[in-house]
Amino acid sequence: MNHHTWDAYSRSYLNIQKNPASFQLSLMNMLRFEEAEEILDAGCAGGQLHQYILQQKKNNCKLAACDFSIEMVKLAAARMLKFLNNPLHGGISEISPEEIENADLSTFDISSLDCPLLEQNNYKIFQGDVQSLPQLNNNQFDIYISNMVIHLVENKDQAIQEAFRVLKPGGKIGIVIPVASGNVMMKTLTKCFIEAGLIKEIPFKPTNIETREDIINFMSKHGFQDIICWNQTIPFDLFEINDNYIFPQFKEILDKAPKEQVDQFYALYKQEISNRLTQNLPFTVESLSLIAKKPL
Ligand SMILES: C[S@@+](CC[C@H](N)C(=O)[O-])C[C@H]1O[C@@H](n2cnc3c(N)ncnc32)[C@H](O)[C@@H]1O
Repeated sequence: MNHHTWDAYSRSYLNIQKNPASFQLSLMNMLRFEEAEEILDAGCAGGQLHQYILQQKKNNCKLAACDFSIEMVKLAAARMLKFLNNPLHGGISEISPEEIENADLSTFDISSLDCPLLEQNNYKIFQGDVQSLPQLNNNQFDIYISNMVIHLVENKDQAIQEAFRVLKPGGKIGIVIPVASGNVMMKTLTKCFIEAGLIKEIPFKPTNIETREDIINFMSKHGFQDIICWNQTIPFDLFEINDNYIFPQFKEILDKAPKEQVDQFYALYKQEISNRLTQNLPFTVESLSLIAKKPL
């Protein structure tokens, strides 16, 4: 998936954040932001992690974040500005499309994404591909966090090498990736798509990182040590069909399909949801999470 797919999905993404939040909360708590001087959030989307990081980190600790989708970068910047201007005013996820478009980014240069209010708060956001981050120095960060991104990246080796480069010796990396085994949600979507004739097979390549052993070997190969890795499963409260739960790679296909097939897909999906409800079970997504250190 390229950055245009994520640009198009940027406004829907906020809505699906609530359920997977338990993955990222576990990861963030394991990383101990309070000890860091500089943190990088790689592939930050709409900045879902940032208000929590702000609450945990030291005042003078710098938080940098990047995403290769410019729409995601704008969304994250607008949300952070809203939060900093009025932190007690309701949920930040309630941000409207107008607020994003009209956020006072007058002093905010989209090419360098500099903004005094963000800078005063030690917050920096920029457009960048996690596979190559020439904007960042060697040995710069105490913590590199990347939640639900690495599985999407074309060249995972390059992304992890880049993480290793920008981390200080002794710095920590924290990543989460979804795995197919416990992903009832993705399996069900795929099944309904195939049955409705929308696709013949899974519309994306499964990653070669599916087990704890795979990811531990992968990270050790790139020089990381003190690796802690765990599986986590989360529930989705999918009582009704909501387009927000249709992941971007599927949404693209639906947008182009004939109405008849789309209707057929929704009928099948509705049936699957009701089957799940009769078993008193939620839909689930499973992830592999990992923290590790760059050697001293
Ligand atoms: C599933 S979202 C996860 C976002 C965020 N980390 C969170 O915790 O909610 C994936 C994000 O990764 C971004 N992304 C995918 N590949 C990327 C790459 N090579 N470089 C930078 N960002 C990337 C997408 O634009 C999207 O915003």
